[in-house]
Amino acid sequence: MSLTRRALLAAAVAAPLAWVAASKPRRRGGAHDAYFLGLQDALRQAGLFRPTLVVDRALLLRNLAELKARLPKNQRFRVVAKSLPSLPLIAAVRAFMGTERLMVFHQPHLNFIAREMPDAHLLLGKPMPAGAAKRFFAEHRPNAFRPDRQVEWLMDTPQRIADYRELAGTAAAGGALRLNLEIDVGLHRGGFRTARDVAEAIRAIRDDPALAFAGFMGYEAHAAKMPPLLGGVHAALAQAMAFYRECLDAAREVLGAAFSPDALTLNAGGSNTYAYYDESAPCNELAIGSGLVKPTDFDTPGLAAHVPASFIATPVLKALERTEIPGLEVLAGLFSAWGPNTARALYIYGGYWLANPVSPPGLQRNAIWGHSTNQDLLNGSADVPLGVGDFVFLRPHQSEAVFLQFGDLAVYESGRIAEAWPVLPGAGA
Ligand SMILES: Cc1ncc(COP(=O)(O)O)c(C=O)c1O
Repeated sequence: MSLTRRALLAAAVAAPLAWVAASKPRRRGGAHDAYFLGLQDALRQAGLFRPTLVVDRALLLRNLAELKARLPKNQRFRVVAKSLPSLPLIAAVRAFMGTERLMVFHQPHLNFIAREMPDAHLLLGKPMPAGAAKRFFAEHRPNAFRPDRQVEWLMDTPQRIADYRELAGTAAAGGALRLNLEIDVGLHRGGFRTARDVAEAIRAIRDDPALAFAGFMGYEAHAAKMPPLLGGVHAALAQAMAFYRECLDAAREVLGAAFSPDALTLNAGGSNTYAYYDESAPCNELAIGSGLVKPTDFDTPGLAAHVPASFIATPVLKALERTEIPGLEVLAGLFSAWGPNTARALYIYGGYWLANPVSPPGLQRNAIWGHSTNQDLLNGSADVPLGVGDFVFLRPHQSEAVFLQFGDLAVYESGRIAEAWPVLPGAGA
């Protein structure tokens, strides 16, 4: 055999072997660090041996301080209630930031906040069917909250304005309705798309004494995700703000001497974009929620200075030294020889949340076994020293739906669970 043929043959054998060796999962894992050990102790002290959503108050305050420092001086702050869905949590954020402005997305939340936090000023974050607004009025009991002054209903089409005009004419509404126009600044999730349509909508509102024009809402979540190839975040934001200015010009033209931008709600922003704003933006407030507790969907460049402040904690119910898949028991040794991170099987209390395991390091899901909301399986290597009664910690992907799945939020502060904060009623939206 020639030297070249022998080399080729050796390469043909060695290449797949090298590929197999490179593909073999590396053993990972470790113990909780001091932070999670402290949190585990606090949960035990508090008797919370069940799935629990923990908010770390010091880390929340750190994010709030970052937000306060970064928010352009000419922008007010609006709390996105759905992303921080607990009245005491919203109250803490309001107190730190000194704002009465909330963005609300769900009719039961609207009624609850109007009842329990009557000094709040509410902007709807999505256009509600007029029937939902009607129900709000039917359920609202007179108190210090004045819907005609403290709610801005979001309008996305001329038809929606017509629907609300009909409602405004009834006794149910009990006063004028303030209407805010959703403008499509590039997200393409609906709303008014041209300055001409915006002008027409403002005219229709101006001409009806039961309606009042309250401002604009232009959400630009797409900007944070714009790839550099398509111009990146700054270009997308500049484009969004250019259309915002066009809409303001349309309002100025229609309203003439009555145009007063300072008196209007000119809303924009979200957690992932707020850090890119400066004082040149034509809006006058930014709505932010999730970034203050920072679930994993918010691990983005715009929020690099924010820290995760919320975790799911749940006890390990069973810690097994083998992972056996029903029907494939004989392969258990082979599976763990190939994948050392499947050596241990940890069955936890609850599971299958929109969340990723975060501590101890090295935990993973089992692709064959699947999921359980009752006793989920997490695998770990022999380097994961968890036993029965220890806790596993996960980070939620998002706050708005996940926070509502655990009952009261457990507030972790100075090494203990200091408070229990009830979540908003009426499920999520
Ligand atoms: C209209 C609107 N504004 C602002 C936000 C920002 O919320 P967050 O900061 O929680 O992402 C959202 C989120 O869905 C939204 O729909």
